[in-house]
Amino acid sequence: MIQTPQIIQLPKIQDPRGNLTFVQNGGVLPFEIKRVFWIYDVPGGETRGGHANRTQQELIIAISGSFDVVVTDKAGVEQRFHLNRSYFGLYLPPMQWRSLDNFSTNSVALHLCSTPYNEQDYFRDFTIFKTT
Ligand code: TYD
Repeated sequence: MIQTPQIIQLPKIQDPRGNLTFVQNGGVLPFEIKRVFWIYDVPGGETRGGHANRTQQELIIAISGSFDVVVTDKAGVEQRFHLNRSYFGLYLPPMQWRSLDNFSTNSVALHLCSTPYNEQDYFRDFTIFKTT
């Protein structure tokens, strides 16, 4: 498992007819995909996320438009990643508090996840996250 949040470059097949990018298990991802969800129709100025996961790993891709992911670890160290290309993904290992903001109009945030949805895997209180 990769230990730190980082940008992963995805394969990009350039073509005059339009470009193509793909992700598959056994490829560049350090985990097997068990769930996919996406966030869209975000009103201007809104923030999503605001949680951390105990075990889940994720890759977040700006499949359309752009947005920022603010990642904070248990020590309180904060990093802001601007995602604006559909061939870059932000990899998040477990135990990273994340918020998504600065969404552009018509942006879509695709999340590839290593686990099925399980609310027990979530920290939704930052103070509890930091002290666990
Ligand atoms: P939430 O995790 O709060 O969204 P985000 O952190 O991305 O802003 O999820 C919002 C609601 O959707 C919450 O009631 C849980 C539900 N949900 C599912 O049922 N399945 C899923 O895969 C996800 C990500 C959320």
